[in-house]
Amino acid sequence: MGTSGGRVLLVDRSGRGHAYAELFSRTRPDATVFYAPGCSAITTERVVSVPHLSLSDPLPLVEFARREEVDFVFVANAVALTGGFVDVFREHGIPVIGPDRAASRLEASKSYTKDLCRHYGVRVAEYAWFDDPEEARGYVRAVPYAVVVKAEGLCGGNGSFVCDTAEDAVRAIDTLMVERRLHGREISFFTLLDGRGGHLHLPLALDYPKSDDANRGVTCGGMGAISPHPLEDARLLEEYEDRILAPLKECIRGEGLRYTGVVYVGSMLTDEGPYLLEVNVRLGDPEAEAVLPRVESDFFGVCRAVLDGTLADHPSLRVSDLYTCVVTLAQGRTRHLSRGRNKGWYVGWPYGRYGKGYPITGIERVDPARCRVFLGEAEVHPEKGLVSDGGRVVHVVGLGATRREAVENAYANVGHVHFEGMRYRSDIGRVLPWTEPALSAGT
Ligand code: GLY
Repeated sequence: MGTSGGRVLLVDRSGRGHAYAELFSRTRPDATVFYAPGCSAITTERVVSVPHLSLSDPLPLVEFARREEVDFVFVANAVALTGGFVDVFREHGIPVIGPDRAASRLEASKSYTKDLCRHYGVRVAEYAWFDDPEEARGYVRAVPYAVVVKAEGLCGGNGSFVCDTAEDAVRAIDTLMVERRLHGREISFFTLLDGRGGHLHLPLALDYPKSDDANRGVTCGGMGAISPHPLEDARLLEEYEDRILAPLKECIRGEGLRYTGVVYVGSMLTDEGPYLLEVNVRLGDPEAEAVLPRVESDFFGVCRAVLDGTLADHPSLRVSDLYTCVVTLAQGRTRHLSRGRNKGWYVGWPYGRYGKGYPITGIERVDPARCRVFLGEAEVHPEKGLVSDGGRVVHVVGLGATRREAVENAYANVGHVHFEGMRYRSDIGRVLPWTEPALSAGT
């Protein structure tokens, strides 16, 4: 791969994937990024989407990687990771970054992860597991604290119910985990691991997991993000390293898990420091869209260090001083038409069913000096051009020398983009996703 050129197969289909593709090509301009399945609207000279490949079958990706003689594969998507794509690439002798299927259980099974974390001394909230909903209901009525009820398995960020009362919790219970509700401020840490004990931190971000303004509505995969995180400082990173990352790495080593790539630690910052809430085996979405535009180091070089197991010797990432603010444009409420007949309404993402195929206009009007645009679930239709194709369609990322400027740039440019049913939060970066109502919009 050397210091110039380079060919990577990036496996994802989301705004996060687009942000990775942009990072690879920005920091190594003569490299080629094959983005699979990607989004057919993203095809530049250096970023080539491969829409005929899919996240359900790794073997065509293996053939593609061989035919195109890629240097390595970077698997960024949770479905592909938990589906064992990394194992398949490895079996075929193709260098790959990402946790294998066994290591991806850290995201796929909350019970497995919480039990391991407790065993290895990672700081986690008290919790209990139930197969029997009746037992779980009895438990939440008995404990003297508020709880969070969590579904087992991959939930795309939709699997947690934060409950104020026992009756809220009783309603949320089905086949679930019950965890003591911690009060504090949420903070997400993203750390690259090389599988040999070395690590490198990516910038931190703050996610907005609620669907509606003022942090109302339902918990979803995220409606926006900002970076840097307003609470980050060197002491917090030290605490994270000591109380969470070091025992988590020991857990990965002790359990013999093969983990390379990003570990995403969702945590709650309490008066006693950070507690681990959950582990995800990939970068967050839309946090990636806030974090990756700030990275300036050659990301191919970083990946080479991951593959060689030499991250411990790698200098820290170069990160720009820019602030970022991601506003996610989601597919909201639209009419449900079938063969020209009105069948009522789609409620829209993330509340329930949503329509697809609505033309997206105005992206070319977004100011590239002040914003990035990352396409998520969008596609090219042969007649209509760029259309919506899922829940989180487009992410507009404002850049600025201050948070205020990043927020203003994001919202000024969101106004150029349109598709039927488009909805977004109007307060990303203006409020915090916890109890205090307002965020100082200065630096
Ligand atoms: N934004 C939350 C997640 O990616 O899981």
